Amino acid sequence: MEWQKICAANEFEGENRKMFEVNGHKILVSRIEGKLYSIDGLCSHMGGDLSKGRTENNKVICPKHHAVFNLETGHVEKNINGFFKAMTRKDAKDLNAYEIRENNGNIEINI
Ligand code: FES
Repeated sequence: MEWQKICAANEFEGENRKMFEVNGHKILVSRIEGKLYSIDGLCSHMGGDLSKGRTENNKVICPKHHAVFNLETGHVEKNINGFFKAMTRKDAKDLNAYEIRENNGNIEINI
């Protein structure tokens, strides 16, 4: 793991969610009430783009089948419902969460 710059802090002002690619991984970076979060950017169920999901407090809701992930831990807070589970025969699993910081005018993640 090492700290890597993903963008200048001023490129991320006023936005609360954006997808970045780091070392070939899609990473969702969110800024909510001034606090930064970073987790895997693709849903563990069927790859939904979490940057297009709705956020509620420190959670993001997958736009495809509505699994809910905690932005701080990456943990599944609410799994897909029984209908989608029966249709797809799989659940959402916990995502990886990464340390993130603002440092010398840049946003960096530890990955
Ligand atoms: S792809 Fe995210 S809940 Fe199905």
